[in-house]
Amino acid sequence: MTLDIRQIHPLFVGEVHGIDLRLALDAATVGEIIAALDRHAVLVFRGQDLEPRQQIAFAQNLGPLYLGLRKIHQKKVHRYDEEAVSDISNVNEDGSIAERDSLKMYTMLANQLWHSDGSFQRDAARYSTLHCVVNPPGGSVTEFADERAAYDALPDDFKKRLEGLRAEHFGLHSRIALGYDGYSEEDRRKLPPVDWPVVRVHSGSGRKTLYIGAHTTRILEMHLAEGKLLLAELLEHTTQREFVYRHDWRVGDLLIWDNRSTLHRGLRYELSERRELRRVSTYDPEFAVSQAA
Ligand code: OGA
Ligand code: MN
Repeated sequence: MTLDIRQIHPLFVGEVHGIDLRLALDAATVGEIIAALDRHAVLVFRGQDLEPRQQIAFAQNLGPLYLGLRKIHQKKVHRYDEEAVSDISNVNEDGSIAERDSLKMYTMLANQLWHSDGSFQRDAARYSTLHCVVNPPGGSVTEFADERAAYDALPDDFKKRLEGLRAEHFGLHSRIALGYDGYSEEDRRKLPPVDWPVVRVHSGSGRKTLYIGAHTTRILEMHLAEGKLLLAELLEHTTQREFVYRHDWRVGDLLIWDNRSTLHRGLRYELSERRELRRVSTYDPEFAVSQAA
């Protein structure tokens, strides 16, 4: 089938029509979805109605599944039996709203900092699929920033300054930055930081892209303060309005984004109202391999 895609932002983001993601997809359609992601970086599908298993089956078309922090938080109770489903909600196992001070709420609040999923792991996430099941009455928004366009727009001398720089990414950093102090030494040890080049080539498009966000702690080659300021400057540049798409959620939406070439963050919503989304991501074998050497 030929996908019906409309670009809904001047730089990126395609809205896809006429496809039911519950159905098995043939190889040609999967190829079209991946080509569309290479081009648009974010795809929006409206009116989908997927059970967790169906979302997993769909995501598996895009690559091997990413299990995120599951390796670390073995003890945590999950609302879903399926290991690959991340519960992006403010709801506890018993259906109550999570406490402000809980790790769960900190995790949800950390999602409100610009980030790229799993950048703190060697097997980082390539694609994330996020499906909206319950939207609070006041609505909720997730924003996406186009890191390829942001890179392109940097002045040449700035691009030159970035050559050869690597940033360290640490998985607990964003929650600690927000004030969560419940991590043990063992939690920290289980999740050693990783480092990635600040500028990478996005293989699907051959375009250069930034790879930054809330998991970054420092630039390895720079003085700590100077490196932090550089990361802050790059984030400020990348998240200027012209590079940002704002997604106003409706129940039934399913979004896919490419974590190699976009940053995202949730916006503030009323925490006492239920908000439930389900995320299934794939991991990025390419960079895991190329960076392990
Ligand atoms: C995520 C995420 C933001 C949001 O699911 O990875 O960052 O708005 N979500 O829920
Ligand atoms: Mn995320």
